[in-house]
Amino acid sequence: MESPVNLEIIQNIAILTIRNPPVNALSHAVRLNIMSALNNAERNESISAIIVMGEGNTFPAGADITEFGLPPKSPLLPIVCDRIEQFNKPVICAMHGTPLGGGLEIALSCHYRLAHPQTKLGLPEVHLGLIPGAGGTQRLPRLIGLPEAFKIAASGVPISARKAAEIGLINEIIEDIKDESIIFTNKVVSLNKKISRTCDITRHLKESPHTNREMSELRASFAKSHRGQVAPGKIADCIEATLEMPFDKGQVLERATFAELLLTDQSNGLIHAFFAERKSSKIPEASRTTPRPLNKIGVVGGGTMGSGIAIAALNAGIPVTMIEQDTESIKKGQHNVEKVYKRDIEKGRLSESVVNDILAQFNTSTDFDSLSQVDMVIEAVFEEMPVKQKVFQILNQVIKPGGILASNTSYLDINEIAAVTSRPSDVIGLHFFSPANIMRLLEIVVPKKVSDDVVATGFSLAKKMRKIPVRAGVCDGFIGNRILNNYGDCAAFMMEDGATPYEIDKAIFDFGYPMGPHQMFDLAGGDIGWATRKRLEPFRDPQSRYVHIADKLCENGWFGQKTGRGFYRYDTGNKRGNEDPAVLEIIEQERQRKGVIPKTFSHEEIIQRYMAAMINEAAEVVREGIALRPSDVDVTKLFGYGFPRYRGGPMKYADTYGLDKILADLQEFAKEDPLFWTPSKLIVELVKKGHNFDSLNK
Ligand code: 3HC
Ligand code: NAI
Repeated sequence: MESPVNLEIIQNIAILTIRNPPVNALSHAVRLNIMSALNNAERNESISAIIVMGEGNTFPAGADITEFGLPPKSPLLPIVCDRIEQFNKPVICAMHGTPLGGGLEIALSCHYRLAHPQTKLGLPEVHLGLIPGAGGTQRLPRLIGLPEAFKIAASGVPISARKAAEIGLINEIIEDIKDESIIFTNKVVSLNKKISRTCDITRHLKESPHTNREMSELRASFAKSHRGQVAPGKIADCIEATLEMPFDKGQVLERATFAELLLTDQSNGLIHAFFAERKSSKIPEASRTTPRPLNKIGVVGGGTMGSGIAIAALNAGIPVTMIEQDTESIKKGQHNVEKVYKRDIEKGRLSESVVNDILAQFNTSTDFDSLSQVDMVIEAVFEEMPVKQKVFQILNQVIKPGGILASNTSYLDINEIAAVTSRPSDVIGLHFFSPANIMRLLEIVVPKKVSDDVVATGFSLAKKMRKIPVRAGVCDGFIGNRILNNYGDCAAFMMEDGATPYEIDKAIFDFGYPMGPHQMFDLAGGDIGWATRKRLEPFRDPQSRYVHIADKLCENGWFGQKTGRGFYRYDTGNKRGNEDPAVLEIIEQERQRKGVIPKTFSHEEIIQRYMAAMINEAAEVVREGIALRPSDVDVTKLFGYGFPRYRGGPMKYADTYGLDKILADLQEFAKEDPLFWTPSKLIVELVKKGHNFDSLNK
């Protein structure tokens, strides 16, 4: 087997190339081979300096995350970094791609750092609930100062090579990684200067009121942006320790903190999310086929979703033709698209000329024949089956053979939509989330007769749009909305039984969601849920519990933010809304009408019930094959519904909480309402076998 580290000698320079595709992660084998390459280079007296680089796409993008949680194997990365730093010949790194995490920590240990202009450098460990664990919190502040180091490590956002050069993180930007780094190294050798090691730099290690103030402001700001997460504060502790401790003691603190965080639920949740996000695009259809071309797209409907989808496609470089039912509506659709780009110009996100180029790819029409040449059309008209079926009958006529017919329906049966066409194998669901140009989730809904290459094309569209695709089967609401309806019901039951919507929202917000369910209903529009409830009324089990409170609000015209009133009042400019005594009055009337004696719910019990309802329905979604695997449910809830990422998603949360405990909760709640709380057979079966949801992800 080829060594993951190659040592090439060019005259007096040794070039150490790390080659561990796809991202040159610093696995045990890589670490071992770096050490032996360094030993060889040290022994070889003809070598005066070493260049470290990465083969393929990138300089190492970090430690090998798949090794986290396994017994640590020597040499650990901090030891490799120390060995590089203490090397007795100059070590120069030549970076390209994404030197991240441990990769950047290797670079910080080198004596000189060079980077290609397109390089993105960063410490993203915080996104895994960790701190940099191979000297990053000790070397980076010594090199660029405490506040800059804290910003990079606590945000986890990579910086450009230009910015890195400006703040002194790199010495030079080079266009040709190999040739120019050799020229640079030859200069270093000929100057024969004393080696400068990052661990010895002291110029930034002075306490100053300015630095203290800046650090405490940054601490507060990251505590807010990473609400509920421990890693940013720990990063600050380690970075500030550089002012009090010598380098080696600081490293010990960093390593202990890293090891401690690796064992936390937060880190487990975030690492699970990292892999779940990548796994969701691994679908059976991909191995059987290739996607169809996607050079032109049609969008039918220019309302909230149609305009967002059009923007998402245009931003992905795909020309769009939008169709509306009449001249006035198409003008609105066009305006909906243009106003987003206008805002981008005002905010300085895009230049006027870039926007002009994008909009040159955007056409509008009221004539369906304008869609004759598109490769895919995405329908986003009203959520009514007859309206959608009528549109699909027309699309069946006008779309060229091989063109794909997609629906953005939130709930409706795509098999029924496909059935009105003569080519159901071309029909698929593409469920975008609002705002479609921003939200990253895309549920790809796979009806019975669709062909594999159409499914694969849905995934290729997601990739072009930089969205996270999740494969879903057909059922009412697919993965995300189906589960939402269940915990939405649970919230309604708790409200009728004694909790206020405000108490429920507060508990859910404190759990880590950006907002509670009632704030979310107010934002999305109460009328949307109302329409669904009315549509499902004929199919509702007469034995099932139904809470009328939300309907009562809708009957008053209180649809949420858009009408200034819903569960909250929005008439004082408070974006989050104010509690409304009139809503509490309606709730009280409903309790009295049904003879409910209200009880008190603690925040813990609210979470316990809300999660049990969510997980129980999610288990059914997996059991029925609507989701391919539990981690796909996690991805759906993380990217479409605001589930706190550091908890990994509802299925990961269930595993962490204990699936046996979830089952016990369900059984307890089932004593009150067996119909709603019957435990999913999948949960019962997994608990019986002593397995968890993650066992189904393998
Ligand atoms: N370890 C193990 N596998 C990794 C990895 C890593 N650090 N980074 C990426 N991969 C894997 C992915 O899981 C994926 O595998 P798959 O093909 O089987 O699904 C494959 O590499 C390609 O990854 P992407 O699909 O994400 O490729 P992109 O080109 O879109 O993105 C990237 C590349 C920007 C490097 C992105 O993968 C990324 O952000 N990786 C994580 C970087 C990171 O978090 N580094 C820090 C690690 S922790 C650390 O270093 C601790 C240290 O301080 C001690
Ligand atoms: P909307 O009411 O904002 O827009 C619908 C548009 O379709 C209107 O502009 C209307 O003029 C147009 N339209 C109606 N019939 C048409 C026809 N025969 N031909 C051409 N255009 C026609 O509705 P919205 O919110 O954009 O929803 C559209 C679809 O997206 C629905 O199926 C909805 O369930 C789904 N959806 C909505 C989400 C949301 O948050 N609003 C989220 C995800 C999906």
